[in-house]
Amino acid sequence: MDSDLIQLVNKLQDTFANLGTSTRGELDMPQIVVVGSQSAGKSSVLETIVGRDFLPRGSGIVTRRPLILQLVHIAPPDPDNPSVSNYAEYGQFLHLDKRFTDFAEIRREIEAETFRVAGQNKGISKLPISLRIYSSKVLDLTLVDLPGLTKVRDQPSDIERQIRNLVLDYISKPNSVILAVSAANVDLANSDALKLARSVDPQGRRTIGVLTKLDLMDAGTNALDILNGRVYPLKLGFIGVVNRSQQDINAERSMDDARDHEKEFFQNHPAYRSIAHRNGTLYLAKTLNHVLLNHIREKLPDMKARLNTLMGQTQHELDSFGDAAFLGDQHQGTLVLKLMTSFARDFVSSIEGTSSDISTKE
Ligand code: GDP
Ligand code: NA
Ligand code: MG
Repeated sequence: MDSDLIQLVNKLQDTFANLGTSTRGELDMPQIVVVGSQSAGKSSVLETIVGRDFLPRGSGIVTRRPLILQLVHIAPPDPDNPSVSNYAEYGQFLHLDKRFTDFAEIRREIEAETFRVAGQNKGISKLPISLRIYSSKVLDLTLVDLPGLTKVRDQPSDIERQIRNLVLDYISKPNSVILAVSAANVDLANSDALKLARSVDPQGRRTIGVLTKLDLMDAGTNALDILNGRVYPLKLGFIGVVNRSQQDINAERSMDDARDHEKEFFQNHPAYRSIAHRNGTLYLAKTLNHVLLNHIREKLPDMKARLNTLMGQTQHELDSFGDAAFLGDQHQGTLVLKLMTSFARDFVSSIEGTSSDISTKE
């Protein structure tokens, strides 16, 4: 049931993404938005959550369009029935009718799509890239990767402001959960992620702190106070992670190996041993899944009301076209509206089914 709920929200999000920007804005889906300075470790965190290498890397501003990443949990392939060609893991873009089983190819497609819309140069675009990853190793989650907050020279002079506005667009929506990524080897007081998160979520109700690079702190120092919530107040707390270093990436250290190394790091560290169970990438992924579900549950009544309004408007629009509207190619848009309305109706009725479950839970 929980998993169904997230998948349904994902589907609705796709439907709206297909309809273009004006309509999309009317329904703000719950999603987890990743925010942080350039090189804080945002892409690394996303890749460790997925357990695969697939994001473009490099110096400068690599992420130049929002990436809406939907993780969909699927059953592992059945070894007793190899004739059924169900892949262990694959990716699918919204803009392309193709199944990607090679994750290096996913990276190249993200790069190509970025160039296609945001240009070969350093520009950024607000138009998101939508990617679904189906895997038996992921939990159902919707994550948004955004360009890193940065101060740059040799870029269009207003790029810093453009990025800030893009990030604010996403995190100011009350429906977004903010994953504020900060590096542990930089003073938390200077964290751009936390500063920006605080500007839209002053009480820290929907911000999760992620502290990367714990392995790079000066010898003799640790982040125990931050991880225990004694430094910066966030209701959802801070979770520490250790991602692959640049050296690990160059040496092609595997994701599984990196996760084992992270686990050992927390379990063997004198300061973190006692909090090892509530840190690390696996714990982060579980927490995000939980938070996203709670968030969706909280927002259900509001989403339902919005959908009802939207359906009313759409019906009105359809009525004004009359039956003739469905005869020609030029009314493709009307057909989409009609499909969307019926889909939204299913969605609302399934929410109604879910709501009665929720009230009896916990
Ligand atoms: P982004 O710009 O925020 O997406 O940052 P990246 O994920 O690309 O990481 C920037 C650099 O920091 C890369 O070379 C990573 O390998 C390195 N890095 C990220 N997280 C960690 C970490 O926890 N420990 C170490 N040692 N290096 C990290
Ligand atoms: Na980067
Ligand atoms: Mg990045």
